[in-house]
Amino acid sequence: MIEQFRQDIEAGLSAAQKSLPSHYFYDVRGDELFQQIMAMPEYYITEAEDEIFRNKTQEIIDALDVAESNYFEIIELGSGDGKKSKRLLRKLLDKGHDFTYQPVDISKNILDHLEKSLVTEMPDLDINTTQALYVDALAGMKDTPHKIIVMFLGSSIGNLSDDEATDFIYQLGANIKPGDLLLLGVDLKKSRNIVLPAYNDAAGITARFNLNLLERINRELGANFVPDNFSHRPEYNENEGIAYSFLVSTAEQSVYIKSLKKSFRFSEGEKIHTEISRKYDEATLKRIIAGTDFTLDRRITDSNGYFADYILKRQ
Ligand code: AVJ
Repeated sequence: MIEQFRQDIEAGLSAAQKSLPSHYFYDVRGDELFQQIMAMPEYYITEAEDEIFRNKTQEIIDALDVAESNYFEIIELGSGDGKKSKRLLRKLLDKGHDFTYQPVDISKNILDHLEKSLVTEMPDLDINTTQALYVDALAGMKDTPHKIIVMFLGSSIGNLSDDEATDFIYQLGANIKPGDLLLLGVDLKKSRNIVLPAYNDAAGITARFNLNLLERINRELGANFVPDNFSHRPEYNENEGIAYSFLVSTAEQSVYIKSLKKSFRFSEGEKIHTEISRKYDEATLKRIIAGTDFTLDRRITDSNGYFADYILKRQ
């Protein structure tokens, strides 16, 4: 894994337009910072989806189309603290449904926390944690004869380009059966007055989250990035519906990465692209789904129309 990290960092910093893959945000420190981001007043995404899980739990359950007598499996990709999922799980248990909950995360730390809290909060829940990359976890899903409901919430899909998202959902579909479902949470296109602050909170947590990527390279690859010499810069293209995050070099500088035995030069104002956060409209989502084996079953939104949870059915 460290070898992959080395290669990705080298490739990203060697390109004409420098970039770093956003999934490397999430080390232990990054997980902590992301938890804090989700509690920021500007970060509307978490609250919007939580509102759906709070107020429209029954609508979600109806769309899942599961009978009390039929055993099924819920697989959640990137469970985080499970705040939203717990609302659904609790209601399913209350209604006497028979199922297992299988959270998948790359972070052992996060899974341990989640498992601990679930054991006390829902002692009747059958839980089975998997520490894995999503792609690897998907490969194991084929074997079960039971109905599978995959949950991928929080607009995590939004870190992918539309082509990558299509490919990801296609691959997901290839690993489950006709009739299985995908519950997909996506952030919706909206004005920059709302989107931009979400990636530039006043407390500066998102900036620290972005800069942690450089600190991680320092820690794990023995680099000498000076975080103070870079600043966090979010941009939002309202037409396109994509928020971009950059780290901007505030000075002409050179950074040495020991494990690569290489230096990288940054000119003043040069940008490292670190993340895209896609905002969807119906047309974009339909285009993505058209390249997969899923059909659109239901769309459930919050009261502001900020966020949507789609129920997609594998054909
Ligand atoms: C976890 C991908 C949904 O893009 O909104 C939050 C990650 N990055 N603030 C997002 C993130 C900066 C987040 N997702």
